[in-house]
Amino acid sequence: MKIAVFSTKTYDRNFFLKINQERHQLTFLEPRLSSKTAALAEEQDAVCVFVNDDLNVDVLTTLQKQGIRLILLRCAGFNNVDLAAANKLGIRVARVPAYSPHAVAEHTLALILGLNRKTHRAYNRVREGNFALDGLMGFDLVGKTVGVIGAGQIGEIFARIMKALGCEVLIHDPYLQETADKDFSLVELAELYQRADIISLHCPLTPQTHHLINEQAIGQMKDGVMLINTSRGKIVHTRAVIDALKTGRVGSLGLDVYEEEGDLFFADLSAEVIQDDVFMRLLTFPNVLITGHQAFFTTEAMTQIVQTTLDNASAFESQQGSFHEVTWQQVQGDS
Ligand code: NAI
Repeated sequence: MKIAVFSTKTYDRNFFLKINQERHQLTFLEPRLSSKTAALAEEQDAVCVFVNDDLNVDVLTTLQKQGIRLILLRCAGFNNVDLAAANKLGIRVARVPAYSPHAVAEHTLALILGLNRKTHRAYNRVREGNFALDGLMGFDLVGKTVGVIGAGQIGEIFARIMKALGCEVLIHDPYLQETADKDFSLVELAELYQRADIISLHCPLTPQTHHLINEQAIGQMKDGVMLINTSRGKIVHTRAVIDALKTGRVGSLGLDVYEEEGDLFFADLSAEVIQDDVFMRLLTFPNVLITGHQAFFTTEAMTQIVQTTLDNASAFESQQGSFHEVTWQQVQGDS
């Protein structure tokens, strides 16, 4: 199968070349897929895309006219694909439903520990010969209450990690009837907001979760709450969180994803003037720790992502084996 791999970085290419072994004909393209770049997929059978490629109805229509029959998402989330349009156009969509949920859960812990013990600040201080401790005080995690919003594969592993550290775990997940561990409490969102010292987001981006963390939600949270988002940027209303950081209502913020990350993340912009003033404001807070969508980025996860993506292509072609399809009908049924 001829596959155009959009948003290719050197590490993507290396993993694909190693695992593909000439099974499929891969064309590596650096640009993101958008209405401006869709023409690059001419004479291909499938496009392979990542989290910030934009598969809106116009892009999908162009792809279909060029003969594209398959979209291979090399990620779990599918919020960037207009599934209803894909369905109408007869384009199938496959994803990587699971690839080391441990990678994301562990990175979430890294953000919490980094923020709490101010490792990012301590690192810079020590390099400058500044060994003063003022401003670096953290708190013991043992005994603290952690609120987990969305307890699927990642959220559940994260909940287990926090329990192992001696935290009380509250879970809010409208689609769960019971928790995976008897020590976790399944609670309504309002109770989670009221009781949690740390709140971590692990739900998908859907119309229901878009800007879930807004001014009203923050108003219900404990003073000084630590907020962590490793899920999708648009679940958090960034301006509302900035206001709450300024008053101290939000005590600290850890992000691996950002509302407008499509224009920033996965690129080296260190020599450029960044135009996003909201993002730049976030960088001015000492109690904000941001990573650029790297939670998934482990050797194990990359191997699994590429393996499953190529297997999806093979299964589509041969009509055999596991094809991890995501359909408009499934999503309609879920919501
Ligand atoms: P999953 O599908 O296993 O779990 C999602 C959970 O969220 C499910 O249990 C579902 O019932 C729950 N949920 C759905 N709507 C909800 C709502 N309104 N409120 C609360 N919970 C709700 O997905 P998984 O693999 O655990 O991934 C979670 C999210 O993490 C993905 O949707 C993706 O956006 C993000 N992600 C981020 C990565 C990164 O590198 N930063 C890498 C992989 C995933």
